[in-house]
Amino acid sequence: MRSDEIRRLFLEFFEKKGHKILPSASLIPEDPQLLFTIAGMVPFKPIFWGKVDPVYTRIATCQKCVRTTDIENVGKTPRHHTFFEMLGNFSFGDYFKEEAIEWAWEFVTQVLKIPEERLWISVYKDDNEAYEIWRKIGVPSSKILKLGKEDNFWGPAGPTGPCGPDTEIFYDTQRDVPTSDGKEPTPANTEGRFVEIWNLVFTEFYQDENGNLLPLKRKNIDTGAGLERVAAMMQGVYNNFDTDLFAPIIEGICNILNVEYKKDEKIDVSIRVIADHIRALVFLISDGVFPSNEGRGYVLRRILRRAARHGKLLGANAPFLHKLVDFVVNKMGNVYPEIVEKKEFTKEIILGEEKRFLQNLNKGLELVEKVVRENNGKISGEMAFKLYDTYGFPLDILRDLAEENGYVLDEQGFNEYMEKQRLLAKSAAGDVEFTKRTGYEDLKLKSEFVGYEKYEEYSKVLAIKVSEFVNEAQDADCEIVLERTPFYAEKGGQVSDTGIIKGENGEFLVEYVYSPTEGIIVHRGKLKGRLSVGEKVYAKIDIEKRKATARNHTATHLLHAALRKVLGTHVRQAGSLVESEKLRFDFTHFNALSVDEIEQVEKMVNNVILEAIDVIVEEKDYDEAVKEGAMALFEEKYGDKVRVVKVGNFSEELCGGTHVKNTGEIGLFKIVSEGSVSAGIRRVEAITGLNSLMYLQRLENNWLKVRKVLEVNDEEVFRRIENMKEEIKKLNSEIKSLKQKMVDIDSIYKNKKVINNVEYIVEKFEGLEVDVLRDLADRLVDKGVDLVVLFDKVGEKVILIVKKKKSNQLLHAGNIAKELSKVLGGGGGGRPDFAQAGGKDFGKVQEAIKKLEEILREC
Ligand code: ALA
Repeated sequence: MRSDEIRRLFLEFFEKKGHKILPSASLIPEDPQLLFTIAGMVPFKPIFWGKVDPVYTRIATCQKCVRTTDIENVGKTPRHHTFFEMLGNFSFGDYFKEEAIEWAWEFVTQVLKIPEERLWISVYKDDNEAYEIWRKIGVPSSKILKLGKEDNFWGPAGPTGPCGPDTEIFYDTQRDVPTSDGKEPTPANTEGRFVEIWNLVFTEFYQDENGNLLPLKRKNIDTGAGLERVAAMMQGVYNNFDTDLFAPIIEGICNILNVEYKKDEKIDVSIRVIADHIRALVFLISDGVFPSNEGRGYVLRRILRRAARHGKLLGANAPFLHKLVDFVVNKMGNVYPEIVEKKEFTKEIILGEEKRFLQNLNKGLELVEKVVRENNGKISGEMAFKLYDTYGFPLDILRDLAEENGYVLDEQGFNEYMEKQRLLAKSAAGDVEFTKRTGYEDLKLKSEFVGYEKYEEYSKVLAIKVSEFVNEAQDADCEIVLERTPFYAEKGGQVSDTGIIKGENGEFLVEYVYSPTEGIIVHRGKLKGRLSVGEKVYAKIDIEKRKATARNHTATHLLHAALRKVLGTHVRQAGSLVESEKLRFDFTHFNALSVDEIEQVEKMVNNVILEAIDVIVEEKDYDEAVKEGAMALFEEKYGDKVRVVKVGNFSEELCGGTHVKNTGEIGLFKIVSEGSVSAGIRRVEAITGLNSLMYLQRLENNWLKVRKVLEVNDEEVFRRIENMKEEIKKLNSEIKSLKQKMVDIDSIYKNKKVINNVEYIVEKFEGLEVDVLRDLADRLVDKGVDLVVLFDKVGEKVILIVKKKKSNQLLHAGNIAKELSKVLGGGGGGRPDFAQAGGKDFGKVQEAIKKLEEILREC
């Protein structure tokens, strides 16, 4: 039975049992605790948790998953993968153990028709209920194992979340594998004979940060059957890589790399690694992951590098992974349309990354060889780190290399270097300033931000800090905390407000505002006069600056939405800076934006501005907001309540920043630059409001200046410049021919000399072009001399041309040029009949001429 059939039968079976069939969710989960979707239940985690109520209480899916914890085993074992598909049925407070077990049994024994004798069961040791259900449907007690928490308890996915005891179904491959205790083989005492094909989790707890298990409000079912394993079982093969899921991919690899599968285990391992990894690459990139140095992008990079290196082991000398994309898409595109849609894009990204890596890999491999040669097969932590840091060698590749060749790798040392670098990077980024204790953590104060509605506020001073906390300050650089403040503290890419705080006896100029700890807003600046704790003050922000910043912030949201619409939904925010002068937006995308794309984005954003749409800000529950489609940033941490900033149907984002009330306030939006930040990340800078006007005025002024200099009207500027270019070209060629004419060839010819029967001409010039020199040499030789040597002064330097008559067998122009240029402090040479060389010192020409005479005398 083919895998497509298994997938279909599974979903149909559960549809008949009242389940809603949903397509696979993205490999990038909305759950900030997880890098990837690691199981079928991940997209439903908030429902299991009880944070969100289910629309359907029964769901079944075939979910694409990525797990990389065991990446080193991939290819070496029959059942390890990075990318895999998980079949699963889920119940949210609907059916529980009984139906879950009965249906699983029914599907395996009646739909897949696996003989009961080949099936084994394990249950959690204290779960008598599950045990009894299995007994009731006829599984003999001898084939139900009661195991502990390590075997029969699943979850949570991530540090906290839903989890519970489980029961597993095993398939007996009937391989003759020795047991660990010499007794009759069972799934508990043999490695490799029994394959776990289905895990049924009774999700009734959630685990908190401290590992405590607390009951969930609903009892749920979460099951997972790895499609690759089920396919292996149904196709009577032991190794998942021998199923139809991998066959065309492996065939493709063999054809492209010209290798044979199943001839040599070492080669097979590499083939399997590549077959596994290319699936992960195609699916991850299609879901919007790009190679980078952190997070998901780094995992992707590691997978790609590992695959590329195994290709090299198989003899690939050029990038080849991109050529495998078609095999994956042909095999799986019918189930996952996103990989068809992103096919060309995926190839491009893989190719770019592979090329970059191969360049470094070669250098790195040479270095590894040298290092192990010099250190008796040892790779120190420092060296491993250097390889990682300079040549992009992930540790797992080194680990593989060490294992293959018996090198000793100091991983602990490597980790120490990594940690050192991490701390360095942190302090370079200024992070340390924010992680070091500021003293504000210990204050029992709370300041309220009122700046969403107000630009000014009467308030009270709660704290003053000069270098220590003080009750009063005078004429000092200091920090002030107010009870209520209209000042926005820098966060989420938006710069802070500036402005003034006035007291009875002093005025404080606010330069920077930040929040060192939850609930406290600190104003940093210069105090003139006196201010004391408890004093009533008047605080007012720089309104023009705030308004300009708000224009740029709302415009950033519009830009983000427009980029996703014009370039595709792989575009994700990778950083931003919103200030009053301009906005900067970094995002994931592989190519430079074309002029046309930039124009489309500008037009789209300006249309939304012209429509004068109200910007709606709402407070919502995080889950609710994300469910409704608000764009959340993975890295951001949000409280329970979040602010959703919405512009009609065009844009919806979670955001704590300050915005305009209506898009009409933004004025003209103009992109002023576009460039690359790193591989896969682009940066756009744009301006709004009066800044756009000033920008256009500047452009216009420059244009008017150009027109004035050229003395033409608008339409004629370009024609005029073209004409000027043409004219310059013509003049240059006229100068050249004039120079040629100026050279009086007859009088030069008359100056010919003879040594040793060789008729030769030697002449010095200044500022003649090389073309003219060559032409002159040709013409002189045509006139009949044996040898022409011409020097041309260019600044302090000298160019030398040597030409001889072809029929003269005694002379060698190249060798003469070499000798002469040595005298001139340069180098060069050439053919026997013609050579050109250079020298640093024109002052030595006389000496060179002497040398020439010497050479001629000796020839
Ligand atoms: N979530 C369970 C697993 O991944 C079914 O095994």
